[in-house]
Amino acid sequence: MHVVDEAAPSRTVVRKVRGQPTSDGAGVRMTRVMGTPMLDRFDPFLLLDEFRSDNPDDYIAGFPDHPHRGFETVTYMLAGRMKHGDNQGNTGLLGPGSVQWMTAGRGIVHSEFPEQEEGLMWGFQLWVNLPASDKLTAPRYQDIQADRIPEAALGDGVRARIITGELGGVTGPVTDIATEPVYYDVHLDSGASYSLPLPAGHNVFLYVYDGSISAGPEGSARRVRRGEMALLSHGSRVDLAAEYGGARLIVVGGRPLGEPVARYGPFVMNTTEEIYQAFDDYRAGRL
Ligand code: CO
Repeated sequence: MHVVDEAAPSRTVVRKVRGQPTSDGAGVRMTRVMGTPMLDRFDPFLLLDEFRSDNPDDYIAGFPDHPHRGFETVTYMLAGRMKHGDNQGNTGLLGPGSVQWMTAGRGIVHSEFPEQEEGLMWGFQLWVNLPASDKLTAPRYQDIQADRIPEAALGDGVRARIITGELGGVTGPVTDIATEPVYYDVHLDSGASYSLPLPAGHNVFLYVYDGSISAGPEGSARRVRRGEMALLSHGSRVDLAAEYGGARLIVVGGRPLGEPVARYGPFVMNTTEEIYQAFDDYRAGRL
């Protein structure tokens, strides 16, 4: 019988990281929070970008054709529209509040372009590693429109959109991901607090994209402001309290893989040999 340990420790903030400005694709300006010299990765997560601008010059160039192999890209839109297409004829339109969970597996070549010429473009791209056994799996898309992402009411002034995982009796629409991730978009009103249950052995980070919170148990809670990522210790929950004005944050966790990572640009494999193979396959048109 599985017994939930109510006394299991509340997670604490072990490290805070602020993103750095970067540019990717054909010149899209964004903030890279993970996948930098400061924070290379947090197993199984490899990268987190926040793009947020109402200046079309920052995003209009988009991301022309580029390959991926060996991991997953997750795009979560808060505002704006992105059009997606790949070399296998798949197309999709990502609107505000929608998510695309793409399992690149053995490889795809795709492009992403804004479907707007003005206005705010705001969202996140997350890279999630695949275990060695799944790196050459068939590519798979889970394109989830905004109205298919359920919201869990978690108490006074606290709610969350559930992209994947289960919280407050609500299960997210993204399923069958190797690292058994959770991905919640949590909203707390001014002064609201919540003890958020989490899979105890997962590596979990949170990233505050609006307002500020304190995270961690009373006495050792730390403040996390807009634009900061907090890496958490292990434990079965994290205590969150919004400061004045409330807070919005993503809470993301996954089962650590504990495997060697060989990474070069858009390819993430286990060995350097496999990276060379990925380049060969890409040049030969085999992705
Ligand atoms: Co891409």
